[in-house]
Amino acid sequence: MRTKYKSWAKPYLDEHQEISLTEEEVKKLDNIYLEIGSGKGDFLILMANKFTDKFFLGIEKNVTCSGITAKKIVEAKVNNAKLIYNDAINVLPLLKEGSVNTIFLNFSDPWPKKRHHKRRLTSANFLQQYIRVLKKGGRLIFKTDNLELFNDSLEYFTSSPFKLISITNNYLGEDDFDAKTEYEHYFNLEGTPINRVIYEK
Ligand SMILES: C[S@@+](CC[C@H](N)C(=O)[O-])C[C@H]1O[C@@H](n2cnc3c(N)ncnc32)[C@H](O)[C@@H]1O
Repeated sequence: MRTKYKSWAKPYLDEHQEISLTEEEVKKLDNIYLEIGSGKGDFLILMANKFTDKFFLGIEKNVTCSGITAKKIVEAKVNNAKLIYNDAINVLPLLKEGSVNTIFLNFSDPWPKKRHHKRRLTSANFLQQYIRVLKKGGRLIFKTDNLELFNDSLEYFTSSPFKLISITNNYLGEDDFDAKTEYEHYFNLEGTPINRVIYEK
């Protein structure tokens, strides 16, 4: 599911800075519903449309995916979702302590080679930031098709202060506080089981 590079994406993001946030604005945010690695934005926009009283923020480092998301936000006139085109490792330190309500990690890149494990969005450095930015009782919800990433991640969480709330290896999309992502849609068509875990701070 490689995303073909689109040369219009960067100029589009530059022209539509209203869908993003400045560093100063990021530092002031509160009660955020944060998706890291939001891809082409399907989940972000479905959730923002479903829960209009909540503020959704996507962080995505791929320029084409970010441009596609920005276009969807602009065209659907979604006013409770923003997108930051950047690597989460640069954005997370800007967020205030306790300013995030929920973190969604949807079908994060598996980085199968051991030397790349530290790039995983569930690796120790990221978990440390998640614990800092989440409010007390805030949740992290992680969905993936990749069992190796899932099982390794469960171990990473064991060495963190996160409390396990629920876990399944056969998630069927039954939670109302959820929406289907682009990847999930394809995995559902293939009949690939979805693993899902919820943690609380
Ligand atoms: C496998 S795709 C899944 C996209 C989407 N969440 C879905 O389920 O359809 C993972 C996405 O995470 C993004 N990503 C990976 N690491 C990231 C990071 N450190 N910061 C921001 N985005 C990241 C990638 O660019 C990619 O678009």
